[in-house]
Amino acid sequence: MKRESDGVHLEKPLLWSAIAVLVAGIFVADTVTSLEVAVAVLYVVVILLSVWTGSPRAIMLVGAACGILTIVSYLLTSFGDRNSGLANSVLSLVAIGATTYLALRIEAANLATRQAQADLARMSRVILIGELGTSIAHEVSQPLAAIVANGNAAIRWLGASPPNGGEARKALERIVEAAGRAGDVIGRVRGLAARKPPSREPVDLAELVQETLGLALGEIRGSQITLRTELTNLPMVSADRIQLQQVILNFIANAIDAVKADRSSERDLLVSLATDGEKITFSVRDNGVGLPQGSLDKVFDPFFSTKPGGMGVGLAISRSIVEAHGGAVYAAPNYPNGAVFGFTLPIREARS
Ligand SMILES: Nc1ncnc2c1ncn2[C@@H]1O[C@H](COP(=O)(O)OP(=O)(O)OP(=O)(O)O)[C@@H](O)[C@H]1O
Ligand SMILES: [Mg+2]
Repeated sequence: MKRESDGVHLEKPLLWSAIAVLVAGIFVADTVTSLEVAVAVLYVVVILLSVWTGSPRAIMLVGAACGILTIVSYLLTSFGDRNSGLANSVLSLVAIGATTYLALRIEAANLATRQAQADLARMSRVILIGELGTSIAHEVSQPLAAIVANGNAAIRWLGASPPNGGEARKALERIVEAAGRAGDVIGRVRGLAARKPPSREPVDLAELVQETLGLALGEIRGSQITLRTELTNLPMVSADRIQLQQVILNFIANAIDAVKADRSSERDLLVSLATDGEKITFSVRDNGVGLPQGSLDKVFDPFFSTKPGGMGVGLAISRSIVEAHGGAVYAAPNYPNGAVFGFTLPIREARS
């Protein structure tokens, strides 16, 4: 069962076909019926439908086309009372104008909502990074202080006359131990991103992906990227919704960066969900610049980035989160160009 790109709710060609068919139908009906019948007011339905395109220009275009066709119908229709025909046409034009204005207002409000959501998602990530930095600094500062104190002690014991080798050795042992603890903290850096155990709640992945794509939609449309989705309906999984959303958003943001960086081809993204009954696979396939040469194994490392201004934390955080859910992340080259990034979640683990 597939829920094809519903654009994100309606695939655009489908939407435009629906608009074209309705406009043509209303135009014909308006032209062949008597002037006294105000068929043209039905154009308001088409204008409201055009809000789904998510583009103010498209809404204005549809509104203008409806207005012009209303006038053309009035001029072409040859039967019925001309005066009431004129009144009907004027009323229809007023309705069309008012609806176009309202549709534009609705689209502006939608855009503001999408932007606010995207800002929120970005902020939550910045907060996560901030938290991460604070915890690392905090946990490493203690062993570092111990290393300094014991180092000084060892210098003193060795400088004494006669030198106290026994005490100096103990101080050095404490240094090694503290250094080991600092190393452990660094090693846990990845784990820190998912420090709080993921809160578990039933999550419909297809819905979550759809919702997350909504956050990136402004950017996708604005960058002339063709987005396709293949979202199979899956069993609900028990997961941390916000954390998974973060992961999905990171993969999508990277894919957008990758296609934008490649100027040579049409920009395509395919976001899909699949299952083999045991695990769920989420993937983002792009035809962008492709994986950095020879660094396939580094892309998930913290602070690895090939982008000017990139922090290199998106994938590292994503890996921590997915692994905390008992899953795994992966990256592979896409054929003929671009990359595929994604993760798998075991269904049983996700449920427990
Ligand atoms: N879809 C992709 N196509 C090609 N390379 C990618 C893709 N996704 C990630 N990479 C590579 O992996 C690196 C690490 O990605 P990651 O998301 O961790 O950091 P970033 O995007 O560089 O910065 P940020 O921390 O702001 O997300 C990228 O710099 C890029 O080289
Ligand atoms: Mg990134």
